[in-house]
Amino acid sequence: MKIKNNLILAMDIMELQKAEKVCETIGNQIDTIKIGYPLTLAEGIKTIKIFKENYNYQIICDYKVADIPATNSKIAEQTFKNGADGIITHGFVGEDSVKACQDKADEYNKDLFLLTEMSHPGAKRFLQKDADEIAKMGVEMGIKNYVAPATRINRLKEIREIVGKDSFIISPGVGKQGGEAKKTLEYANAIIVGRSIYESENPKKATEDIIKSTK
Ligand code: C5P
Repeated sequence: MKIKNNLILAMDIMELQKAEKVCETIGNQIDTIKIGYPLTLAEGIKTIKIFKENYNYQIICDYKVADIPATNSKIAEQTFKNGADGIITHGFVGEDSVKACQDKADEYNKDLFLLTEMSHPGAKRFLQKDADEIAKMGVEMGIKNYVAPATRINRLKEIREIVGKDSFIISPGVGKQGGEAKKTLEYANAIIVGRSIYESENPKKATEDIIKSTK
């Protein structure tokens, strides 16, 4: 996936009107947003089409899919059927569950992003221990896209080493969670930023500043 300015906006605003206002303010500095449960549960899956049609954005659905294969397949089907360009799926559920999403992504000719490790402090206790194995599984499965944390650069670096230079890594945790944009982009192809943009008094300037800081 090609991502303008290597920046993905995490649209975790729970009112569509407010979310659209942020998009209008930011303008064409970005071309990709990440939608997760906050907006989808508040406003419905129709939000994917609204952002695509009104702003021509690429949409990555951060549904952190983590169920049995049969259910994962249904979740991915609905996500792609409703216009998503990519879906984020958890890796800890194992190869068969991930493959169910991968098959749907292939069927729709869209992207699967494998989540190796999360960016928050709690992720250290369980998920971090297995993150390298999850990344290795992704490589074995031929997965090209990964999610790895900006909050722990050493971990991001390690995951980059495992998935190789040709894989595509998107990295959340820049800004509010403490990650640095430029440093993160040494190992990731794009950063994911949410609150530092949409909670800012001036989302346009916040976006410009983040983009400048990456140069
Ligand atoms: O507001 P903030 O910039 O912290 O948003 C980060 C976004 O990335 C949120 O949507 C969060 O759910 C998501 N995320 C994350 N860590 C991961 C995967 C996704 O923070 N490993």
